[in-house]
Formats: sequence, structure tokens, C-alpha cells
Amino acid sequence: MPIEWDAEGRVLHLRNDRISCLLRIQEDGSLGHLYFGRSLAPARSYAHLSGGEFRGFGNRLGEPGRLEYPVPGGGDYRVPALVVEQPDGSAALRLEYAGHEITRGKPEIPGLPATYVEADGEADTLEVTLRDEVGGVEAHLLYTVFADHAAIARSARIVNRGDGVVRVRTAMSASLDLGDADWVMDQLSGTWARERHVVSRRLVPGRQSISSRRGSSGHEHNPFLLLRRTSTTEEHGEALGFSLVYSGNFLAEAEVDPFGSARVRIGIHPEEFTWTLEPGAEFATPEAVLVYSDAGIGALSDTYHRLYRERLARGPWRDRPRPVLLNSWEGAYFDFDEERLVQMATAAAALGIELFVLDDGWFGHRDADTSSLGDWFADRRKLPDGIAGLARRVEAAGIRFGLWIEPEMVSRDSDLFRAHPDWAVGVPGRPRTEGRNQYVLDLSRPDVVEHLDAVLSKVLSGAPVSYVKWDMNRVITEPYSVALPPERQGEFFHRYILGVYELYRRLTTRFPEILFESCAGGGGRFDPGLLAFAPQAWTSDDTDAVERLPIQWGTSIAYPLSAIAAHVSAVPNHQVGRVTPLSTRAAVAFFGVFGYELDPTALPDAERDEVARQVGFYVAHRELFQRGRFVRLVGPFDGDGNETAWMVVSPERRSAVVGHYRVLNRPSPGPARLRLRGLDPAITYDVAAWPASDDTVARLNRGPRGGDELMAAGLLLDATRGEVTARGDFQARLFVLEAR
Ligand code: DGJ
Repeated sequence: MPIEWDAEGRVLHLRNDRISCLLRIQEDGSLGHLYFGRSLAPARSYAHLSGGEFRGFGNRLGEPGRLEYPVPGGGDYRVPALVVEQPDGSAALRLEYAGHEITRGKPEIPGLPATYVEADGEADTLEVTLRDEVGGVEAHLLYTVFADHAAIARSARIVNRGDGVVRVRTAMSASLDLGDADWVMDQLSGTWARERHVVSRRLVPGRQSISSRRGSSGHEHNPFLLLRRTSTTEEHGEALGFSLVYSGNFLAEAEVDPFGSARVRIGIHPEEFTWTLEPGAEFATPEAVLVYSDAGIGALSDTYHRLYRERLARGPWRDRPRPVLLNSWEGAYFDFDEERLVQMATAAAALGIELFVLDDGWFGHRDADTSSLGDWFADRRKLPDGIAGLARRVEAAGIRFGLWIEPEMVSRDSDLFRAHPDWAVGVPGRPRTEGRNQYVLDLSRPDVVEHLDAVLSKVLSGAPVSYVKWDMNRVITEPYSVALPPERQGEFFHRYILGVYELYRRLTTRFPEILFESCAGGGGRFDPGLLAFAPQAWTSDDTDAVERLPIQWGTSIAYPLSAIAAHVSAVPNHQVGRVTPLSTRAAVAFFGVFGYELDPTALPDAERDEVARQVGFYVAHRELFQRGRFVRLVGPFDGDGNETAWMVVSPERRSAVVGHYRVLNRPSPGPARLRLRGLDPAITYDVAAWPASDDTVARLNRGPRGGDELMAAGLLLDATRGEVTARGDFQARLFVLEAR
């Protein structure tokens, strides 16, 4: 996967077997972009690719229009990657090539999560230095090309080598100038309880963007963009992915210029951001991971899944099978005592569930969401022997114990707030906005991080805690830190996230055996930044099986199933009131990190048996669900959205599980078939429905079937009218395929 330097053509070529990225130092010293796409042959000259681009008055006459890290002020009126306010108040900047270095491996980004390598041979890194000769600002652009992933990791370091103080106003992680604008942009958008639905639009002249300015990556938009050709499908065609390894305010934007080319940029949102650089100081941007696929959206997802599962997630839990858990939230909410929890845990253990998680309500005197955040000591009214006493009893019941925390928050009614009102984010002398009756702690302050580290370490070391769910239930308003001088308030949001990462780093390092799951009012901070610390995330507070189809489908575009926590909950569902079969709820939740969110002591006997069978099935196929290749077959965003189908396939393609879901039943079906993908055409698979059934569909699909047949002709979905009539709404079918 060499990075080649063509000294004559002044071209840098980053390549592996699947992708190439070409940069060229242009005549005026700027760093031009030539190409990002399918792998091109090594040891060839590509300098000519920069020719023939004339941009009229828009740019300096005759200058090629595609740039790697554009700045404003020199005639390029498209969105910039870097804006720096100089000591004289101007934003003048002219970046010229000052050198480059190629190293084996991949350096860390100080204070920020990023993809990594375990051996130098896994990647090469290019660092190009661009310098503004007049003012002394340098942009160090980092590009890592992986040997075995169709991805390039990019970031930038801005260094002030001048004599005066400068202020960075925009510093994108990556900017990419594409040769044409004939793309459809897919974004993952929604709100609380319907996160990450796929929303598509064609690129048009002008700017189109998604962003967050809430202090977290947010429920509304995920820090991810996908560009695809109109003809691209899951299996065929070109797709480009832009993913930001960051959990705070972000901007992902495409601008189409009048000449029909597109610029895409992704990074920290420039609004409400400035960073002051004293002489000699530097600023590091988060990492952006750019993926190219010429084999459809599915192959792009494959790249993100494997890279994020194997080289972003870290720690012992990266590769371990994740436990099937029961979370107390929807089963008990705030209404519990030790006896009730032990009963729930005991009932869960009897069903084969491996981990019991005590959610919100165990600390201070918290009987509702109106108090006690920040007071991380057990409520002795409910837990007379504290967390340790409860955890010991849970473990004695044969199930591990996990705990919910919300470290970044403080309730007005809490000892912590009474002792440290200045630790809450807000502008002194002005009202603070409450959200869910709580304030946000100022994690931009090292003393606040220090305090949380100490109190939470005490909780986690004082009891046998195997798992932590780290929640975050409101966004940031009135961004301000009393610990920062006025001229540095623009640094607050980023410093806050650096504080979150620092606390995560400390706790995950001190407690490597604890499995961390991130959460933010459901899926409000489901981003690659947190996956570096917590290898799984609570996907959404919406646990309804039908609602989960688009949520899990959209999430899977950029994130592996090993990150997607999915639970079976009680009916009527607590978010939408829908009553779906227990089998359907499990058939959806299997495709992720599986668990339950209900009171197991309240299950009727028949359901108890069914749950035990579900747990057994998931455990038997856990490796497949958590580490297999996820293949999307029929999408909830296609047609009328009534059908969804997907499957997981083992790496050697010897086993697979297929899920097919029909929201509303329809009369008089035709002989619909579901064509599978990702199998080995030469393998004969035993096909069986799960749970075992003797209906016509199960019978006609059962038996040895060639992988070729299953992919070309597919599985039968509907048979007799009578059986269809009896089936009702919200049905799911699972098929298990095992090589003979
Ligand atoms: C929001 C989370 O998404 C829920 O699962 C639950 O933990 C509540 N917070 C508790 O307050």
C-alpha cells in the first residue's frame, strides 16, 4: 500500500488494491486534488490529470480548480477548509507546499479518538506541510491509507509559526473537490426515537449541508454523508462515504459550483467555534474517514463496518462476544427496590440472559427525573446495601451486573449543584435553560473531569460491575465556561468534548474489563468518536419492532452490527403503543447486540419459554450477528416501505441468517421470492425456518439449496392464501442457512 512520490510530476499517490488518491503540488505551490476513486496502477505519471480546468474569474486565472485544503480570499469563493484570523484582523492566507513526509503506520491524534493500526505494516501515513509565508500559519494535512481497507483517514494540524496570536475560525478535517456533481447525497437524519433514517437528495448548485450545534453529534443528523450515483444500488455502482470521528458540533456539506463540480467538507462546525493559537501553539482536528466503493453501498458499508469494529473500537471488549442483557428501564423505570431488582435479575438468569443492567434511578434520592444527577452514591431507601450489596445478590443469581450513569449532568436538586453551581454550563448573571430538569456539567474544566473520575471510579471499584451504560439526556444551551477567558469562549464546545473523551479514556483504561455502552436519550450521540471508547451504543429509545426497521437499516449504512444495541420490549410498545408479536420483536433485535427491556417477572409462561428459546438462538448465532457480514436486501425506504429484508453471513460464507419483515399483511399475494446475496454459489446450504414451522413457506424453502440458486432464484415468501390470511400484521420470518 505504498504512498508514491512522483518528483517530476510533483504528484503524491496514495493507493492500495481498491482505492487511489492523487494529490499534486501545483505551479503556484497550492496542493491540488487530482483523483479519489478506484485503484490506479502504481509507478505511473498522473500529473496530466490536473490539466484542462479553467474556472473563469472565480479563481486565479488558469489555476486548476480542485484543491485539497482550500482557504478564502484568493478568488476561491466555494466553502473553505481553513479560515484563520490573522493578528491584523484579516483572514488573509495563502497556503503553499513546504514539504511532505511519508511514514509507516499511523500516528495518534492527541486527545481525540481515531482509527489505529496494530502493526506498522497495516497503513502508511502522508503528512503534507502547507505554509503561509507571510503570516507563518502552517497546515499539516495527514492522510493514512490502509493496506486492507478501501478507506483514507484524514485530519489536519494547524500550527502558528508566526510571531502574533491568530484565531482559527474554521478547520475542517477533510475537504474533497470532486470532478463532477452528478451525485445523490444520502444523510442519516431524524429526531429522538426515529434516528438515522436515510434521507436522499440530488446535489444541486449551491450549498447543502447537515450539522449539529447542540454540543453533541445529535439525534437530528449523524456525522456522516454518502454520495452515490443515481444508478448506484446496494450491489453496484460508485459511492463515497464521509464519516467524522467526533461526538460534538459538526458540519458535513456539499457545494456545487457553477461549473458542475462539487466540494464536500466535513469537520467541526465553524459556527460557535474559534480557537486561539499563541505563537508556537497548534490545533488538531478530529479525523474524517473517507471511503470509496465501486461495488455499491453494501461494499462501502462493509468497509466502515470492519474498520470501525476492528480498528476504531478498542480494548478487551472489541473482539469479545457481547452479553445478552436485560435492562431495567422499561420494566421498572424509577419504581424499584432491591427485592424487585433481584427478582428481575433472577428471572432473567433463568431465561439464559447473561447481564442484568440497573438503569436510571439508583442514586441520590431519585424517584423521577427531577433530582440527584451528580450525586453518584446509592439511594439507601431503595438499596440498603448499596450497589455492592445489590450486585453481589445479582451475581449470586447467576447473572452479571451492569449500571447506568449519566456523568455529564447535574440536577438543580442535587448536593453537587448546591456545592458547585459554577460547574454547570451557563453564562453568569443570565438564566440557564433546563432540559429534562437538568443542567450540563462543564466538562471543558479539568477539575470537573477530575471530580467525575474520582466519584465514578469509587462506584465502579466498590462493586462487581461488568457493564456501564453512559447516558447523556440533554443538549447544551448557553455555551459558556467560567473557567475560560472571554476570548477563548469559542473553544468551549470542543473543549467540552475533549473533556468527555478524557473522562472516557480514564474510566475505560482504569476498568478495561467493564463493557461500556454509550447512549444519549437513545441514539443522540451514536457516532464514531464514542465507538472508540464504547464499542456498542444504545441505538434508539424507540424499541418498537416496526420503528426499528428504518432505524437499524439507516444506522447500518455506517456502523457495524456489533455497535447497534437492540432490545425486545413489552407490548403495547411504550413509544408508539403498537402490539407486535414477540417473535417479530426478537427477529428485528437479533440483528444487533441483543437484549431485553421489560419486566421478566411479568411474562406469561408461554412467553417465558419463547424468550428462553430466543436467547438460546441468539447465543448460538452470536458470532454471526455480531461479527458476520451484514447484507441489506430490501429496504424500508424503498417503495411503500412495507417490506424489509436483510441477512448476516459468516466470513467464510458457510452460515447465514436471513430476516424478512412485512409491516402490514396484504391479501392475495403473488409468489414473491427474496433473492439473497453474499453466499458462496458453490456451497449447498441446508435451509431451515426459525422457529421451526410446518407452514407452506417453511416447507417449500426447507432442504438443501445451492448458494447459486438462493442468490439467483431466492427464497419463497408467500404460499397459500389461507396461510396469508391467518398471518396478520407485523410478521417476520427468519431462515437459517448452514453449509452441508
Ligand atoms: C434515556 C435512555 O435512552 C434510556 O434508555 C434510559 O436510560 C433513560 N434515559 C433513563 O433516564
